[in-house]
Amino acid sequence: MEIKITRNPNPGVKPEPSVLGFGKYFTDHMFMMDYSAEEGWHDARIVPFGPLMLHPACTALHYGSEIFEGLKAYRRADGKVQLFRPIENIRRMNRSAERLCLPTVPEELAMEVLTKFISFEQDWTPSAPGTSLYIRPFMFGNDETLGVHAVKHATFVIITSPVGSYYKEGINPVKIMIEADDVRAVRGGTGEAKCGGNYAASNRAGEKAEKAGYSQVLWLDGVERKYIEEVGAMNVMFKIDGEVVTPALLGSILPGITRKSCLELLRAEGYRVSERRLSIDELAKALEEGKLEEAWGCGTAAVISPIGELCYMGKKYTINNGEIGEVTAHLYNSLTGIQWGTLPDTYGWTLPIED
Ligand code: PLP
Ligand code: COI
Repeated sequence: MEIKITRNPNPGVKPEPSVLGFGKYFTDHMFMMDYSAEEGWHDARIVPFGPLMLHPACTALHYGSEIFEGLKAYRRADGKVQLFRPIENIRRMNRSAERLCLPTVPEELAMEVLTKFISFEQDWTPSAPGTSLYIRPFMFGNDETLGVHAVKHATFVIITSPVGSYYKEGINPVKIMIEADDVRAVRGGTGEAKCGGNYAASNRAGEKAEKAGYSQVLWLDGVERKYIEEVGAMNVMFKIDGEVVTPALLGSILPGITRKSCLELLRAEGYRVSERRLSIDELAKALEEGKLEEAWGCGTAAVISPIGELCYMGKKYTINNGEIGEVTAHLYNSLTGIQWGTLPDTYGWTLPIED
């Protein structure tokens, strides 16, 4: 598809790596294309980064038909920029689109516009250790009517943001609060889709946790409120008595690409790994018996994030003396080594971007 380019006449100044944080700065351009039932995807364009004009009845504003993705471009030591498993994000985006009755984007088209846009904007990929260019594709229903139904119009946008670490703690362990009241998702709902509504519904518990000094919430299942699900912006893994345990994908949690990569890395290296239901009682018992050896979260923004403390119903549990564990550190090094190109990518996960 032809992509029309309008250059930004006022290019911005690239921020210093030390101020980056997460999602605060944006690059000079964004990618956009529109969908209509009659024309399919059309009008692909790279335009100066800036506000969107929306009809006040726009479906996304009223009924939340919005989905998004998150992936990163990494600058290698040789200066080349590469993506990590982008096809996985595109496939997940299309699964989210199907769940929310938004149009899917054919995989080849999505890969084409993504790689062309990143190639165009790649100068914004920072090179300081631990930094990357966060890529946020998103799509929203854009009918100009208040009827509730599958949309006939949608808009797909990609924005990019140079980032450092997601948590202020960086690679140091974070404190997580287990939420006992609100729930995030149930099977059959939208928990396994990456849609904005899931995050809006999680803010109340997130605020409560933050006020109490915790970085994020660990959700329990929405039916029995008993089984561990995932953290606000990452999947979760535990090392219990020598075995790595992570909640199985049963429909209510996000199938994380970092989660999948960790499992593939660990299995290839012969670790004992199990994807299954894990109850809060089993976790508490393991903690009390000293068998919970490590806990960490994994996600694109969060990378591998050690969990040093869990709080449940007012009771605080310290994990691994609040220090990063051996498997956590190993996963962090293996994964980021492949992403930044300092270790060989024997899995074929990385995709170099054209200069
Ligand atoms: N779970 C939630 C709720 C998330 O927002 C994310 C972040 O994308 C993840 C898990 C991790 O997914 P991924 O590894 O694909 O980034
Ligand atoms: C990501 O890791 O890409 C995410 O989408 C997390 C986000 C909610 C901050």
